[in-house]
Amino acid sequence: MGRTRYLAVALAVVALIVALPTPSAQPPSYAADIEPLFLKECQSCHTLDTPKADLILDPGTGFRALTEQGSTQVTGVRLVVPGDVEGSYLWAKLLGTTEIGKGMPRTLFGARRLPREQLDLVRTWIETGAQP
Ligand code: HEC
Repeated sequence: MGRTRYLAVALAVVALIVALPTPSAQPPSYAADIEPLFLKECQSCHTLDTPKADLILDPGTGFRALTEQGSTQVTGVRLVVPGDVEGSYLWAKLLGTTEIGKGMPRTLFGARRLPREQLDLVRTWIETGAQP
């Protein structure tokens, strides 16, 4: 193995270590992790004055709305089912895979997917029981 080869392998190992998720002691919570994201990306449309799809994600209301409300688009489907990401309509909206409406967050130019890390955060939040 040449020197460059060694270097490349060493770099790959370092990159792998850096990329590994550090196990966090606590599961993400709505208040600390999800709400700041949704206030930034979603509240402009999902607010008391203009509650698109009857969903209000204002400070302090988003958690209950998401975990207790059913979808207004598909009857019998809940927005967030703690522990069941595939069964959560919110997840389908974030991936843009619903048959009704657009993906979220939507923009003037259509839907925009949240960056991977943010999607992962929402996924982990739902999978770990959608903590308040
Ligand atoms: C530019 C306005 C806009 C933004 C920003 C936006 N939404 Fe929406 N949202 C809508 C509209 C309009 C609908 C209903 C039509 C549709 O689904 O496309 C909707 C529907 C939804 C629904 C379906 C509700 C139901 O009852 O089935 C969910 C869930 C949702 N949005 C979540 C979000 C989340 C989470 C974000 C941020 C990541 C977000 N939205 C950002 C306008 C917006």
